Amino acid sequence: MSHEREAARSRIAVALDVPDLDQAAEIAAAVSPHVGVAKVGLQLFSAHGPAAVNKIRATGINIFLDVKLHDIPNTVRSAAVELGKLGVQYLTVHASGGEPMMRGAVEGLAHGAELAGVGLPMVLAVTILTSDTEAPQSLLVDRVEAAGAAGCGGLVCAAPDLDVVRPIAQDRFLVTPGIRFHGGEAHDQARVATPGAAVGGGADLLVIGRAITGATDPAAAASRAAKEVAQALGQ
Ligand code: C5P
Repeated sequence: MSHEREAARSRIAVALDVPDLDQAAEIAAAVSPHVGVAKVGLQLFSAHGPAAVNKIRATGINIFLDVKLHDIPNTVRSAAVELGKLGVQYLTVHASGGEPMMRGAVEGLAHGAELAGVGLPMVLAVTILTSDTEAPQSLLVDRVEAAGAAGCGGLVCAAPDLDVVRPIAQDRFLVTPGIRFHGGEAHDQARVATPGAAVGGGADLLVIGRAITGATDPAAAASRAAKEVAQALGQ
């Protein structure tokens, strides 16, 4: 694989939003030549729990555990200790939960990873959901700052928010869902962008679900995404 395509691969996460674990593992294996990360979300984790993480990881892909924690700080910290033992690469929390809650997640995750002797996952703070069209820009800025103060390594934000977030997020890792190919169906996502536009706007990792998993040929769709990302990185 060329250097550009390998770089592009590490910048794409496929969202495995399916209830069936065998199907999820099949998709992960099929797209893994083009996609370096698999996102295990609420659906798959609710259905199969840690077994979902273990089975998908066995395909050799990094795991993004998207359970968007949001509770009192002590409860989030305790949950994060358990999740930190799973050996995932990324874990999401809702920035709307506040700075102490996010700090609880950061500390709990580090503790869990240490107990299990696995790598330390990065906490990603979800700023404003991509389906939300109402939230004011001031809220976005407040949440980016709170996430930084809490020690979160990265942020999740919609592509149109990258213009606001990138300058104030400094070296934070930016993750962008709501990715669609040019002319593709938006589904329930109100704020979408193409893979090339999101990378051009400063995203470090793109989360792509239905544009890949809903395609007739998921591997071909993943290859198309990687090609568009490689082109954007080369510009
Ligand atoms: O199918 P689609 O590409 O719209 O999937 C987007 C994925 O990203 C879903 O798994 C969704 O839960 C997730 N996500 C999102 N908006 C956020 C954070 C995560 O759409 N702010």
